[in-house]
Amino acid sequence: MRMSVIGCGYLGAVHAAAMASIGHEVVGIDVDARKIDALSKGEAPFFEPGLPEILRDGVASGRLSFTTDMAAAHGAKVHFIGVGTPQRADGYAADLTYVNAAVDALLPHLSAGDIVAGKSTVPVGTAAELAERVEATGATLVWNPEFLREGWAVQDTIDPDRLVVGVPGGSDVSTHSARSTTGETAADVLREVYHPAVAKGTPFIVTDLATAELVKVAANAFLATKISFINAMAEIAEVTGADVTQLADAIGHDARIGRRFLGAGIGFGGGCLPKDIRAFSARAEELGRGESVAFLREVDEINLRRRDRAVQLVVDGLGGTVFEKKIAVLGAAFKPHSDDIRDSPALDVAVRLHGLGARVVVTDPEAIDNARAKHPQLTYETSRDETIRDADAVILVTEWDEYRRELPPEHASTLTRGRVVVDGRNGLDAAAWRAAGWTYYGMGRP
Ligand code: UDX
Repeated sequence: MRMSVIGCGYLGAVHAAAMASIGHEVVGIDVDARKIDALSKGEAPFFEPGLPEILRDGVASGRLSFTTDMAAAHGAKVHFIGVGTPQRADGYAADLTYVNAAVDALLPHLSAGDIVAGKSTVPVGTAAELAERVEATGATLVWNPEFLREGWAVQDTIDPDRLVVGVPGGSDVSTHSARSTTGETAADVLREVYHPAVAKGTPFIVTDLATAELVKVAANAFLATKISFINAMAEIAEVTGADVTQLADAIGHDARIGRRFLGAGIGFGGGCLPKDIRAFSARAEELGRGESVAFLREVDEINLRRRDRAVQLVVDGLGGTVFEKKIAVLGAAFKPHSDDIRDSPALDVAVRLHGLGARVVVTDPEAIDNARAKHPQLTYETSRDETIRDADAVILVTEWDEYRRELPPEHASTLTRGRVVVDGRNGLDAAAWRAAGWTYYGMGRP
């Protein structure tokens, strides 16, 4: 099927390449000429495992192309909108400038019967507003939220846990007469788009537009809440001598709870969870239902407090001050398998330690260039061993295997000056570090 993908950032570039890899003919469109140049050569503008391969194959096969010219969308059956919805500079709400601009620029190139499929995360109610403009051209707007995780984006796009498609009129079989035929046809076209996943039985859930928009923000709100819940337990563990990792293992055995996303540490960051829970709160306020998600403010605050805690542990570990001490910071990306530093708890901790007068040296396997561009005041080092050489304290803030599993404490001891390690992700083998003579501090652990 011919399709266009408007917006070739993280979401759009992966989506375009993934769609080409399952046999579609895809044109990716973006206003950023540099990004388009790179993508046209089959180069990924950011680090994402598996993406360079499918980009190269797609471009080489002739099924995947990139352009800055919106007119290239003409003739495609489905137009995916994958532009960003960042947090607004003046508050917590989502900035819809790019979504509106993308849809407006696309309108003149739509033909009757086309489908515009929104993938961006938007405040509930956005799709209904856009639908009016799209429907005036004879095209249909559907909302098809994206649940991909960075680091697993290609796999999550080609083989997702579920597919959700919000269509005008919804798909309530109990009110069959109210079903919209355009909506049903649009859902069928989306089934065809995702044919390999549909064929293997991936749940394909057809809803109304508002439900589809809400599914995405609800999922992210739930995940953020789960992380802050365990971090709240870490705070309690810290004053009682309990161990939050054992607690998480124990409650995680209950299938209703589950162990995933119960990793206590310096908390969540990235381009999605923090901004999405804030935008959700802002939208709920606008709808007069702020109280329904008031807990999300608490989720955000617990999350931010964990960064303070990590900084405090380093200060305490060094006897009350980090001034002019060398601190080795292992990690900069907001999570492993990513070079993304948006709202990275790791870098926030590094910046705060630097602010306290420490000599901070940061290393990361993928994110150093991005980190340096944003925080040039910090010192960066590509070699892990040079980072920890002569350090007074070491802090793990992004749990890459290079630091978590592949750094034996005995080896670290030969390089550092001090023997203080703060495990901001509870990823290290505490017993092994202690046995090697280190003072080990975990998050929510004795
Ligand atoms: C998230 C959602 O998982 C994804 O479905 C959505 O489409 C976009 O937002 P992503 O931002 O890529 O994906 O990262 P995710 O793996 O969810 O991690 C988010 C943050 O939570 C990271 O900073 C991670 O370190 C942190 N985290 C995760 C924890 O602190 N503890 C955990 O147990 C799990």
